[in-house]
Amino acid sequence: MQARILGKNGLAVSAIGMGCMGFSHGYGAVPPEAESIRLMRRAFELGCTFYDTAEVYGPYVNEELTGKAVAPFRKEIVLATKFSPFPLPGQDADKLSRAGVRYALEDSLRRLGTDYIDLYYLHRVPGDCPLEDVAGWMGEFIREGLVRGWGLSQPSEDQVRRAHAVTPLAAIQSEYSMMERMFEKDVIPACEELGIGFVPFSPLASGFLSGKYGQDSRYEGDDVRRVITRFAKENVKANQPLLDLLHEYAEAKKATPAQISLSWMLRKKDFIVPIPGMRKEERIVENLGAVDVSLSDDEFAALERALGAIAIHGNRTDEDIARLGTVRAR
Ligand SMILES: NC(=O)c1ccc[n+]([C@@H]2O[C@H](COP(=O)([O-])OP(=O)(O)OC[C@H]3O[C@@H](n4cnc5c(N)ncnc54)[C@H](OP(=O)(O)O)[C@@H]3O)[C@@H](O)[C@H]2O)c1
Repeated sequence: MQARILGKNGLAVSAIGMGCMGFSHGYGAVPPEAESIRLMRRAFELGCTFYDTAEVYGPYVNEELTGKAVAPFRKEIVLATKFSPFPLPGQDADKLSRAGVRYALEDSLRRLGTDYIDLYYLHRVPGDCPLEDVAGWMGEFIREGLVRGWGLSQPSEDQVRRAHAVTPLAAIQSEYSMMERMFEKDVIPACEELGIGFVPFSPLASGFLSGKYGQDSRYEGDDVRRVITRFAKENVKANQPLLDLLHEYAEAKKATPAQISLSWMLRKKDFIVPIPGMRKEERIVENLGAVDVSLSDDEFAALERALGAIAIHGNRTDEDIARLGTVRAR
């Protein structure tokens, strides 16, 4: 698969990576462990060399699972994980301290079964985060060889610039798709200016852009689609024009709506590397296959114009996802 480079120091990754969260967290029932491992290894056979997990997925178990799955080819991939700014079970209350972050890093290394993390993100940047201090600690980890590059998830442009000034960032991981384009105005241009990679999470808008989910789809357990508003019945209906557009392009390009969505973001900037979540072999083949769907200049410009004319209904917010606890308790 084509390679892309994240950050000035150059983490070389496949143009599309694999989001591993769903194998433990966030999308309802999970496959048996052996099947999850088989699927993650299948992605590698198909050219994927970029895997994404986090200590909070599970919590903890997704790192263990991902570490086990990638063990046979650990050195050939870029393994990304994230530390939460908030204490997780068993962690020090003062998480965002030098000792708290080092403890989290050492624990992630142990769970992943590795002695270095290629890309280590701060999972959220709270308003009171001592960001310059965190950036300094990341510089120490990089010099010690424990981390190769570091990043932030969902930062503002100002936070990107402040952090990068202390220890250059390799990548920003934030929500980005045809349904969530808020970072086009500031964070993505800042990444371009500063030479930072941009890794879209939920690049298929939690699957919506595959066109395979409808008003009557049902979601169970910890599936975020129970609470994020783009999956509210009335919004699924109201967003139909976007799916119609994707189907039109998919037919013309002999591709699928998911592939058009991914190909669109790859075409936008060469430092963008999406990490779709996928737990079925045919979806892995489909999504990774998006690298072979290329949009001409005219097709891309027409798609951009058409997208600009379509209103998007609903979104995905941390506040809505936090409600899952309440929904599940009921
Ligand atoms: N930094 C953060 O705060 C943050 C937040 C969310 C996610 N992430 C990371 O980003 C990764 C991707 O996010 P995401 O999982 O929300 O991405 P996504 O790819 O937009 O959504 C995943 C959902 O879409 C479905 N799907 C994917 N491809 C499909 C296809 N071709 N046809 C039909 N359905 C398809 C998946 O189904 P199945 O899985 O059932 O096959 C899953 O339910 C996560 O795994 C995680 O590593 C980070």
